[in-house]
Amino acid sequence: MAEPLLSARGLTKRFRSGNQPVPVLRNLSLGLGRGESLALTGRSGSGKSTLLNILCGLEKPDAGRVQVLEDVFDSRNSGNDRRVEGRWAALRRQRIGVVFQDANLMPALSLLDNVRLRARLAGQGEDGCGDWLERLGIGELAGRYPDQVSGGQRQRAALAMVFAMRPALILADEPTGSLDRHTAEAVIQQLFDLQARHGCGLILATHDTELATRCSHHLDLGHLPEA
Ligand SMILES: Nc1ncnc2c1ncn2[C@@H]1O[C@H](COP(=O)(O)OP(=O)(O)OP(=O)(O)O)[C@@H](O)[C@H]1O
Ligand SMILES: [Mg+2]
Repeated sequence: MAEPLLSARGLTKRFRSGNQPVPVLRNLSLGLGRGESLALTGRSGSGKSTLLNILCGLEKPDAGRVQVLEDVFDSRNSGNDRRVEGRWAALRRQRIGVVFQDANLMPALSLLDNVRLRARLAGQGEDGCGDWLERLGIGELAGRYPDQVSGGQRQRAALAMVFAMRPALILADEPTGSLDRHTAEAVIQQLFDLQARHGCGLILATHDTELATRCSHHLDLGHLPEA
């Protein structure tokens, strides 16, 4: 078994819509070792994004425990909320690279400066930031601002930001969702290359079954559980 990187036990989450409970995750457990990859699949609305958000501390589970590297977060003894949020924020700054469905770039910075900022915040050097944009096929757009490029180009810039921080764990929510097949293939290749080179863990949510089969593990969230 690979050295453990992340483990989640008994995750339960429900939202509310008016008076109606919307159950999303029920007693879900998973584990990931260094160098391993996990594909999350399932119908739209089955809870993939919710799970990724819980695994990086952006959403709180109603019950359950998440361990990332040496950090443990247990819903039963959440303690001081601000301290808990601070620990999650530090993990996202330095150890967990997160790529969302909506690429989260700073609008006032060029694509290259977005990547540089991300690297700096993670304590990495800025050398090679432009190379990441090149490898993802958007090197010539380095000086443009996020609103001057397409959605798929923004998504690739967001991936370059994650690569530049050299994280221990990458969480990617449909990282190729807005890309054509050819570009998606190139981006995925970079993702798996990076993972092999640095031995980081990778969890990605995807509707692409072929991409899911390329991951070492697969978790199908299927349908929403019954209320
Ligand atoms: N803040 C919220 N309040 C209420 N319901 C929510 C909230 N966020 C998500 N949901 C509901 O929780 C369920 C799971 O949503 P989630 O975004 O995790 O699905 P998903 O598997 O990522 O879907 P997709 O494939 O469309 O991205 C959906 O029914 C959604 O409507
Ligand atoms: Mg989603």
